[in-house]
Amino acid sequence: MRRPIVAGNWKMHGTRSENARLIEEISSRYPADPVAQCIVCPPYVYLQEVGRLLRDSALLLGAQDVSADPQGAFTGEVSATMLKDIGCRYVIVGHSERRLLCRESDQLVARKFAAAHAKGLVPIFCVGEQLADRETGRTREVVARQVDAVLELSGAQALASAVIAYEPVWAIGTGRNATPEQAQEVHAFIRARIAAQDATIAEVTRILYGGSVKASNAAELFAMPDVDGGLIGGASLKADEFLAILAASGSR
Ligand code: 13P
Repeated sequence: MRRPIVAGNWKMHGTRSENARLIEEISSRYPADPVAQCIVCPPYVYLQEVGRLLRDSALLLGAQDVSADPQGAFTGEVSATMLKDIGCRYVIVGHSERRLLCRESDQLVARKFAAAHAKGLVPIFCVGEQLADRETGRTREVVARQVDAVLELSGAQALASAVIAYEPVWAIGTGRNATPEQAQEVHAFIRARIAAQDATIAEVTRILYGGSVKASNAAELFAMPDVDGGLIGGASLKADEFLAILAASGSR
């Protein structure tokens, strides 16, 4: 049985006071025994402070990115060791915004995955096709290429302690989520791709859906057999929405 995960990717949003208010609102109404594990991923500069705010709560801390290198002359970069050092448990790698805006290749993302995994951080490894890929029937090809880059560098074993997030680019921040059937189809494809290398690991790997998840559509998405929760952008910045999405994680 895979425990679902609901993770909030705050992206480049928030201030110290807004973060404190959001965490207070979430923690004060946090369910006693939620079905899902809940994670928040603030911007780097706020990680330590948000980590302190989360100290007595069941919420866990994640970062939004990590360097592919362990240390050295990489101005502006943050290593997996540093993230571990300040209490991060999870880190997003390969988000489409970084793939597209920062030109991160499949190979760089795979190196970031390996760097995080090597230091005991749980990578939240994002994959997903662009609209043009979907419209030209290339969704599986793109997602397979992204998944294979990690499988080739780290092996299927590394996915046992990782999380995958399927985030179709056309669904991110657009209000247009994938239908539950579209999500399920790609999630099942990803699981089968892993199973081709190791069926046991494919069964335990959590695959989250991301892209315009909100309180009103979370339950139907999370009800799908291969959807093990969500990676939430905009709606993770609103306590009401985020808590409702967390509550929907019990729908399978
Ligand atoms: P939205 O939920 O705002 O569409 O963003 C999804 C996302 O990119 C999470 O990583």
